[in-house]
Amino acid sequence: VKDSDATPVRKMAIPDAQTVTEVTHWTDRLFSFRVTRPASLRFRSGEFVMIGLMGEPDPKTGKQKPLLRAYSIASPSWDEELEFYSIKVQDGPLTSRLQHIQPGDEIILRPKPVGTLVHDALLPGKRIWFFATGTGFAPFASLLRDPQTYEDYDEVIITHTCREVGELEYGRKLIEEIRADEMLNELIGAENLAKLRYYPTTTREESPKMGRITDLMRSGEVFADLGVEPINPETDRAMVCGNLAFNLEIKELLEGYGLEEGANSDPKQYVVEKAFLD
Ligand code: A2P
Repeated sequence: VKDSDATPVRKMAIPDAQTVTEVTHWTDRLFSFRVTRPASLRFRSGEFVMIGLMGEPDPKTGKQKPLLRAYSIASPSWDEELEFYSIKVQDGPLTSRLQHIQPGDEIILRPKPVGTLVHDALLPGKRIWFFATGTGFAPFASLLRDPQTYEDYDEVIITHTCREVGELEYGRKLIEEIRADEMLNELIGAENLAKLRYYPTTTREESPKMGRITDLMRSGEVFADLGVEPINPETDRAMVCGNLAFNLEIKELLEGYGLEEGANSDPKQYVVEKAFLD
């Protein structure tokens, strides 16, 4: 067999392969990466796709199966590439390996976007709250760069609670970029971007605002800090993405304010999605 006849085994073994273009490590627990975008992939801001790597060969059959997890698309729908924001779990089946990807490597990306953190799942309102913990910021990184977010609401508030200051960096930088980026200012409109409020908090390291967002809501501190009325089902809409305990707690709080959970087929006042943990 001549070299030129050799089958590109690696490529053929990976269905739905996309190429990694950029990797950024934010902390020892967090990284983000960009991959090529399948030409046919359309998605709504806030949706997720299944991505992953080929699993280790089965010891008996030698067969490899894809190892996939749900990842929110962090890039806006108008972006040429796709961006993802991920935790690194040292013994996590996927992220223990995914954290080592480098530009030029291939990952699997099933081009079937789905999810509930979409504008279609909410009724019209005046103010939208995005509540995130940890890597739950990812879907909002997409939604915050979507012109519709600002067209639909008079006020856009993103809260992000992390353990440590370094874990806020991806979000902080993105907000800074949104405010400074000329193209985004043109696309979204400077007067629209002025609607964006950012409320970062930490729980285990000193920062200007400490505490879990849920506690800050209960005490009323977040509303006082932002100078807004407490959440009201007439005016306020919310999207939630974080760890399971957080999601459950904030659901209860939102229901307490009188908001009801919506879905694509039945839009209401708030929606929730679990941030992926390997
Ligand atoms: P805490 O440090 O008090 O546990 P994680 O990295 O474990 O996913 O957590 C991300 C952030 O979410 C942390 O700041 C954590 O605070 C916070 N968090 C965890 N559980 C809850 C909850 N039930 N309600 C609000 N925040 C929570």
